[in-house]
Amino acid sequence: MELKISRLSCLLLLFLFLSSISSTKASRALPILDTFNGNNLLFNSRFNKLYDTSKYGKFQLFNGLALTPQMGWNSWNFFACDINETVIKETADALISTGLADLGYVYVNIDDCWSKAIRNLKGQLVPDSKTFPSGIKALADYVHAKGLKLGIYSDAGIFTCQVRPGSLYHEDDDAQLFASWGVDYLKYDNCFNLGIPPKKRYPPMRDAINSTERPILYSICEWGVDDPALWAGEVGNSWRTTDDINDTWASMTTIADLNDKWASYAGPGGWNDPDMLEVGNGGMTYHEYRAHFSIWALMKAPLLIGCDIRNMTDETMEILSNTEVIGVNQDPLGVQGRKVHSSGPDDCQQVWAGPLSGKRLAVALWNRCSSAANITAEWNSLGLEPSVKVSIRDLWQHKLVSRDAVSPFGAQVESHDSAMYIFTPQMSESHSVK
Ligand SMILES: *[C@@H]1O[C@H](CO)[C@@H](O)[C@H](O)[C@H]1NC(C)=O
Ligand SMILES: *[C@@H]1O[C@H](CO)[C@@H](O)[C@H](O)[C@H]1NC(C)=O
Ligand SMILES: *[C@@H]1O[C@H](CO)[C@@H](O)[C@H](O)[C@H]1NC(C)=O
Ligand SMILES: *[C@@H]1O[C@H](CO)[C@@H](O)[C@H](O)[C@H]1NC(C)=O
Ligand SMILES: *[C@@H]1O[C@H](CO)[C@@H](O)[C@H](O)[C@H]1NC(C)=O
Repeated sequence: MELKISRLSCLLLLFLFLSSISSTKASRALPILDTFNGNNLLFNSRFNKLYDTSKYGKFQLFNGLALTPQMGWNSWNFFACDINETVIKETADALISTGLADLGYVYVNIDDCWSKAIRNLKGQLVPDSKTFPSGIKALADYVHAKGLKLGIYSDAGIFTCQVRPGSLYHEDDDAQLFASWGVDYLKYDNCFNLGIPPKKRYPPMRDAINSTERPILYSICEWGVDDPALWAGEVGNSWRTTDDINDTWASMTTIADLNDKWASYAGPGGWNDPDMLEVGNGGMTYHEYRAHFSIWALMKAPLLIGCDIRNMTDETMEILSNTEVIGVNQDPLGVQGRKVHSSGPDDCQQVWAGPLSGKRLAVALWNRCSSAANITAEWNSLGLEPSVKVSIRDLWQHKLVSRDAVSPFGAQVESHDSAMYIFTPQMSESHSVK
């Protein structure tokens, strides 16, 4: 009898638990999108297909993190393995002194090479005593005192890519250790994985992190090999969709196109990750970096700075600190923008766009041709009704360029540059609810 009652109450609890999950799912994601639906006066019949959000909020990791794409810095793109606690501290200092932290760049993420080549006798990971003599806990305390968060790196394999110990089969111990140090973010790489499928290797670390009861943003880095957009939403807060980026125009453009494919799967709590920013590392021009930052922001990519923040040029700072472009990335609607139109030789004249809160659209005119071009966006290709009047704000010139534009809108864009705008459709007088 006693047994029966407790079984019954278990079932009841399970039922309550499951129904609370499904109601959270239904209530958290969809109503925001509904503001776009049924707005036939502004948006045309292609709108919902163009900006397919059928997978938005479908899977969720309920750790309450990354409701907008994560922002911060990561050591790899500039320093690679040449890191130490001084660089990490000075970078934290620079995030504060430059004002970048105030703009949202709060994660200070240590990539590979922070640990010793072997575990200690208790089987624990140990920080490299030459480069991190004070240990990771001291570093976490240091960045926390500045209001920042600390990220660390491990690997879902037996070694990291730089052949430090990996966390495969050590998930619980390592997650407990990271939590005890006060770590806030884990990038989890894919080297030396014994050929075991990612779908088997990434969930154990999710569960291990969850057991620590510390909110730790979980960044999955399986390089897009097993189409993580299809399954990683319930495993991590972001998932890399491609191979590593490098500091070239060819790499950046290739990755943007690959990441675009998975746009319908992004949403609050889970983002496609086309890899960290190269802005400021010297391999691309000012215009190319501006396009890189514009498109990453529009694609709702994590904005993780990859340059030496202690030594940025004014141009680099201007790009990374553009609050209007950051605003597109951090918009609470959380719908990934995408390529909606292309024309010209090799389709190099491109229009990328995506819905924002407040029935607005972010629009980028991206010139991937080798010379300047006039790029034109037709309302139809943006999902707008042809008669709608739109106010247009230029996010790089920081000014209103039109109060009442009608289709089409075009601009001359320099080679490899991207112009970026917010379009705010105006309700016509006869329809506006005064
Ligand atoms: C720490 O790393 C930076 C960047 O690689 C380097 O310039 C500096 O000399 C290193 N400092 C120490 C104390 O090793
Ligand atoms: C652990 O998972 C549960 C169920 O998904 C969730 O409600 C909770 O917030 C998670 N805790 C942490 C610390 O991530
Ligand atoms: C950079 O990426 C591009 C495109 O993916 C690739 O062709 C190239 O080999 C890479 N360059 C380096 C130096 O890794
Ligand atoms: C700062 O960056 C410039 C390139 O922009 C480089 O020439 C210089 O060596 C860097 N200084 C330091 C201290 O790293
Ligand atoms: C873009 O259009 C303007 C106005 O028609 C014209 O003056 C300009 O030469 C065009 N630019 C290019 C690169 O075709």
